[in-house]
Amino acid sequence: MSATVVIGAQWGDEGKGKLVDVLAGNADLIVRFQGGSNAGHTLVVNGKKTVLHLIPSGILHTDKTCVIASGVVIDIFGLTDEIKKLKEAGFNITSSQLLISDNATALLPYHKVLDKAREEALLAGKIGTTGKGIGPAYEDRSARRALVMADLFDTDTLLSKLEFVLKEKNALFKGLYDLPEIKAKDIFDQIQTVIAELKPYRTADVSYLVSQKIKQGKRVVFEGAQGTLLDIYHGTYPFVTSSSTIAGAGSISAGVGPHQLSKIVGVFKAYCTRVGSGPFPSELTDEVGTKIQKDGHEFGSTTGRARRCGWLDLVALKYAIRLNGINSLAMMKLDVLTGHEQVGIVTGYRLNGEVITEFPTSTELVSKAEPIVEYFPGWSEDLTKIKTVKDLPRNVLKYVEFVSQQSQCPIDVISVGPDRDQTLWIKPLFKD
Ligand code: IMP
Repeated sequence: MSATVVIGAQWGDEGKGKLVDVLAGNADLIVRFQGGSNAGHTLVVNGKKTVLHLIPSGILHTDKTCVIASGVVIDIFGLTDEIKKLKEAGFNITSSQLLISDNATALLPYHKVLDKAREEALLAGKIGTTGKGIGPAYEDRSARRALVMADLFDTDTLLSKLEFVLKEKNALFKGLYDLPEIKAKDIFDQIQTVIAELKPYRTADVSYLVSQKIKQGKRVVFEGAQGTLLDIYHGTYPFVTSSSTIAGAGSISAGVGPHQLSKIVGVFKAYCTRVGSGPFPSELTDEVGTKIQKDGHEFGSTTGRARRCGWLDLVALKYAIRLNGINSLAMMKLDVLTGHEQVGIVTGYRLNGEVITEFPTSTELVSKAEPIVEYFPGWSEDLTKIKTVKDLPRNVLKYVEFVSQQSQCPIDVISVGPDRDQTLWIKPLFKD
């Protein structure tokens, strides 16, 4: 038995949360493996909306176990707030429902201060981060100065660890950013206000737990955050997030062998969006882009920022299929494309007088790439109430078939609305 990985095949916000929620109904364990509260996963059940940032998107199924693995950077105050909101909404979030790796990185208030200070100082060339402290937290982890979750529970050593980290941070705040000093004792005291709430969910060995479940033939779903083109190594660097967002990162974060992840589901929207700076070859800056933005409610669930919109980019999608080893595609938000006379798909780029069909690995080249757009007749039918694929209008089917054929990867799921039941299965991802 092996696990299923759900990752974003574009620039994030593809609808991974909805798909993980749907899959979780037939799964046993849901593992969030990277990112932090920069993510915003929106779930809609019976018309009721829940936005999650850190807690895995399986949490609304109360008989499932959700794990936050070691590769996640955890804003402990944000997480506590998320748990509180779920409890207020009637979910009892027990310690068998939510497990948090002791070895995950603690994201603390000074990471956010540094993230924002750096963005402000950049003026031109801003990355457009979410301001959630993601970069500084991952940086501390790599520099071997981060506090991991287990450190927060050890009150004998916590203060001295904070003092050590803050010595360097305060030198930066004072010397470079003209910001007031942050006192270790203040952070220590703030941590004490949430630590009792988080303690029941502590888990020492996520690797053992996940491996056992896989061995027992249980269904494990790995939930990615952000998207392939925001990957720290393979995305449009430096306009990326600070973690590896691709499927392989699931294996590293949870501590299981790569061969145990065999179903790799690439989630993509029927069009494309991007938040923040960086090249986006299929971007539409005209009224067509504005219509997609409006119809798709393309405003960030974490920051509220308007998302840039464009046609589906097959060059970028094929790159994502290659990087992740995607063997199943989920096309989301197809209903949003209703009402266009024609819909475009980017099939290649024109670059330095040549036509290319492989995504350039240099960000500078991506920014120079001119999209080659193939147009298809649009449709006017409302897709949101359609229950089976065969009922999709002919022009819609042509569009979907073209994408599947060109990407050489089966589209197994199509989503035509935010709710769980607005999901059309071409092939079930789990067999029964
Ligand atoms: P950071 O992850 O906050 O450092 O932001 C780095 C870049 O990734 C920025 O362009 C963000 O807009 C983008 N980003 C981060 N998280 C998400 C996400 O969940 N969806 C879409 N874009 C994201």
